[in-house]
Amino acid sequence: MSNRAHNFNAGPAVLPLPVLEELRDNTVVLGTSGMSILEISHRSKQFEEIIQSAEARLRKLLSVPADYGVIFLQGGASLQFSMIPMNLMTVSKKADYIHTGHWAASAIKEAAKVGTVREVGSTKAENFARIPRENELTFDGDADYVHLTSNNTIEGTEWLCSEPPVGKVPLVCDASSDFLSRPVDVTKYGVIYAGAQKNAGPSGVTMIIIRKDLLERSPKNLPTMLNYNTHVQNASLYNTPPCGAIYVVELVCKWLENLGGLAGMEKLNIEKAQLLYDAIDGSNGYYKNPIPKDCRSRMNVVWRLASEELEAKFLKEASALKMVGLKGHRSVGGCRASIYNACPKESIQALVALMKDFQKANG
Ligand SMILES: Cc1ncc(COP(=O)(O)O)c(C=O)c1O
Repeated sequence: MSNRAHNFNAGPAVLPLPVLEELRDNTVVLGTSGMSILEISHRSKQFEEIIQSAEARLRKLLSVPADYGVIFLQGGASLQFSMIPMNLMTVSKKADYIHTGHWAASAIKEAAKVGTVREVGSTKAENFARIPRENELTFDGDADYVHLTSNNTIEGTEWLCSEPPVGKVPLVCDASSDFLSRPVDVTKYGVIYAGAQKNAGPSGVTMIIIRKDLLERSPKNLPTMLNYNTHVQNASLYNTPPCGAIYVVELVCKWLENLGGLAGMEKLNIEKAQLLYDAIDGSNGYYKNPIPKDCRSRMNVVWRLASEELEAKFLKEASALKMVGLKGHRSVGGCRASIYNACPKESIQALVALMKDFQKANG
C-alpha cells in the first residue's frame, strides 16, 4: 500500500493492514446482520459473539487462568490510575509504586489521592534511563499491592527481566505500551491493565485482567461504574461498551494467532528492535541511546543527536519520506520510534536507511 505512511506514532498507533482491510470490508455490512459494526446493538447476538470472542482470544493468547476476569472498559489507562486504588487500596490503605517515569508518576499522583503511596525503586535521579535493579527494591509486606509500569513509553525502557519479588502482595501492572507484544505469566499478577491504542487496537477501549479474589476488596459504596465487580459480573455489558473498538481488538487477536501467538510476535519484535538499536550502536555515537541493553524497550526506541537543530533537520527529512511520529515526547525531546506489533519491518528498514544517509551527509 504505497500511500500508507511509515507510522511511528506512540498511540493511537499503526494497526495491522489485514485488520484494517477486514474492518473496511465489514464497515458497511457486518456478516448477515445487514448493519455495520458501528450500528449494531451492543445487546445483539452478533455483538455478543464479538465480545465473547475477543475475550476468549485474549484469554488464549495470554493463557489467562479461569480465576481471572477479563473486562473491556472506557476511560483509558488513565482511569485505571484511579480505579486501581479505589478498588484495591482498601485493606491497609497503603501501596508501593515503582517509579519508572512519566506514566508511573501519573499513576502515583492519582493513587496518593486515595491512600498512602510509597515510591519504590525510583530511577528519577538518572532521568529514568533504566529499570530499577532487584536489590534497589524493598517492598512493604503489608501494602495492598505493588504497582509497576512494564514499558515506559516516553523514556524507552521496558521491564524485560523477571517480575519483582513481591511475595504475597498482588502485583498490578500498567502494560499499556507492551501489552500483547510478548508472552507474560499472568499468574504472577493481581491485575494487568492496558489501553488498546498501541498494540491491541484503536483508542477507546482498555483491557483489565483481574484476579477474582481481589474483587472482594471493592468498597460497596463505590460509584457503580468505578467498581470492577459491576463490569466483571456483567461481562463488560453493564452499559454501552465501545463496540467498534472491541471488534478491532478481536481482529487484532486473530491476526496475532496467525503470527504464532505472543511467542511468534515476540520473536518478530526482538528482530525489529534489534535493527534499530544496531543502527544506533553502530553510529559511533552519532545517535545516542542512554538505556542499558537489558532494559531497552522493544516498543519505543529513543535516541538523541548532537543538537536540537540536527534533530529538527532529521525529523524534517523523515517527514519528507512519509515517516510520522518520530519526535520524542514533549517532556523529554529527542527522537522516538514507536515500533509496536503492527509496525512493519519495512518501516524500520526505511528508518535505518535514513539514519545512515543522514549521518553520512551531516556527520
Ligand atoms: C504506559 C502508559 N500508561 C498510561 C498511558 C495513558 O493512557 P490513556 O491515554 O489511555 O489514558 C499511556 C499513554 O501513552 C502509557 O503509555
